[in-house]
Amino acid sequence: MRMGSNKKVKPFLKWAGGKTQLLDDIAATFPFSKQDKFTFIEPFVGSGAVLFWVLNHYPNVQQCIINDINEDLITTYHTIRHDVESLIDRLTLWQTEYHALTDDKEAKKTYYYTKRAAFNTKEESSLTQAALFIFLNRTCFNGLYRVNKSGGYNVPIGSYKTPMICDADNLRKVNEALQRVTILQGDFEQTLKYAENDTFFYLDPPYKPLSVSSSFNAYAKGEFNDAEQTRLKEFCDTISEQGHTWILSNSDVKQQEHSNLFFDDLYSDYAINRVLAKRAINSNSAKRGSIYELLITNCAA
Ligand SMILES: C[S@@+](CC[C@H](N)C(=O)[O-])C[C@H]1O[C@@H](n2cnc3c(N)ncnc32)[C@H](O)[C@@H]1O
Repeated sequence: MRMGSNKKVKPFLKWAGGKTQLLDDIAATFPFSKQDKFTFIEPFVGSGAVLFWVLNHYPNVQQCIINDINEDLITTYHTIRHDVESLIDRLTLWQTEYHALTDDKEAKKTYYYTKRAAFNTKEESSLTQAALFIFLNRTCFNGLYRVNKSGGYNVPIGSYKTPMICDADNLRKVNEALQRVTILQGDFEQTLKYAENDTFFYLDPPYKPLSVSSSFNAYAKGEFNDAEQTRLKEFCDTISEQGHTWILSNSDVKQQEHSNLFFDDLYSDYAINRVLAKRAINSNSAKRGSIYELLITNCAA
């Protein structure tokens, strides 16, 4: 896919843990050059900041495989890939309706919560479900995605006056970029069978919480606990044994609490780099700012 600098495609969602801030650090460790042919796999794709960066910068990438456990997120990727114009029509209509309510707080609230209830019925067509997913992402509090124990999306309305709900230009670029991407829904381990020679994995799981109160990894029902982090490390061992390269990001729990060597111990066989990152999503705005995150890799320095 050849894209000029004016044609850069970018994530179509705001997403907790979006990786735009870390792209320079990821680029510094990335094992391939622009001329190389390789396969790219992103098992925890979220909003796809790294996927779109790869598609923009590596014109010779042969295959891209993305995966996420979040069904509505993956439905949205499929809809953009296969039916972007219907999606744009729907979002344009909702944007016009929502902006018309700007001066009427109560009417705006009713509009938002009606859309949220429709989304939670899970009975809509995939086109409507995808449009609702983008609408809620653009209008909710801080672009959060959070579900309750029974899987219901429960983020309150955000305070944006006239949020951009339909970025038609970028959605069309995403549509074009996704034509070469294989889109999967499910657990990260299912991506292993797509690895071929010269495959690179970018692994961005839900972060281990820095403290109980900062816990924000409820992207889906079921939490990504320490046992899951260990299962992911074993997955990294398997892909290393098969000769593939990978970079994994996670929180730097040791920076918060010096005795917490969870990742230093778990990944002691690999290179652990500490990089500065700005977190956009933190429930406590006073705690937003620069903190360190981990970039762990089996790529030679
Ligand atoms: C930190 S986010 C990824 C953020 C992404 N790098 C970005 O730029 O937006 C983690 C993602 O992992 C997904 N996830 C959680 N458990 C998973 C599992 N077992 N297998 C695959 N994906 C999972 C979540 O739905 C979420 O989208």
